[in-house]
Amino acid sequence: MNGTTPVLSLKNIHKAFGGVVAIQDFSLDLKAGEIVALVGDNGAGKSTLIKIISGVHKPTSGEIRLDGEETAFSDASSARERGIEVVYQDLALAVEQPVYMNMFLGRELTKKPFGLLDKVSMRKECQELVDELDVRIPSASSTIRDLSGGQRQGIAIARSAHWASKLILLDEPTAALGVAETAKVEELVASLKKKNLAILIISDSLDQVFRLSDRICVLRRGQQIGVRKTSETDKNEIVSMITGVDS
Ligand SMILES: Nc1ncnc2c1ncn2[C@@H]1O[C@H](COP(=O)(O)OP(=O)(O)OP(=O)(O)O)[C@@H](O)[C@H]1O
Ligand SMILES: [Mg+2]
Repeated sequence: MNGTTPVLSLKNIHKAFGGVVAIQDFSLDLKAGEIVALVGDNGAGKSTLIKIISGVHKPTSGEIRLDGEETAFSDASSARERGIEVVYQDLALAVEQPVYMNMFLGRELTKKPFGLLDKVSMRKECQELVDELDVRIPSASSTIRDLSGGQRQGIAIARSAHWASKLILLDEPTAALGVAETAKVEELVASLKKKNLAILIISDSLDQVFRLSDRICVLRRGQQIGVRKTSETDKNEIVSMITGVDS
């Protein structure tokens, strides 16, 4: 493997649900340290694509390569084991649990010899992580229920940053947030680049897409319309690619 091998490479991905073609002939390479935005109207196939990459759906045909190696995920946990994490808009956290337990949900640290939960270590690691990423919460022991939407999404992203070794997929991570909370989450997403992860983000805010992304990929009714460097395009072009109407 060399520095130019993409972290993720999708080739000719198709996905049909019965008679509905959700994704048609989709190809994209993602590099480490790059943020690519995936945009398109409702039903364009964006979430389906993220579910294919994260092992939730199997593509009908096509090729997925991770670090150059052809890969087929049997389910979401096998994608997680390979370093792929997903953040959804609906804040998939256990609200009655403290922050540190959420950080380690399904991957709890335990103590030898009895396998008891190692809460001290989890709390400490969690606190270090939220401090490092500047996610401002009262403490790692706070219950999720007592946090704001922005703080919760901060935790979800910090968790993905902790476990992802290659790729983070974000499906409208700020859709449920207010303006200030969105700004904080955008800062957090931008900081993930420094961890040399590849990032694919779905957003319906073009302002956000232009603030965050290095490249923009447009989908319309399952078809890949095109990919642009963010610095070489503008909102007018992207809108007409999304809608199919020249502006
Ligand atoms: N599990 C499923 N079974 C059947 N059809 C599905 C399934 N998931 C998605 N689809 C269909 O695939 C198409 C793409 O849906 P998808 O959720 O990927 O769109 P999207 O771009 O994420 O839209 P939105 O912006 O509304 O979230 C839609 O026509 C949808 O109805
Ligand atoms: Mg969607």
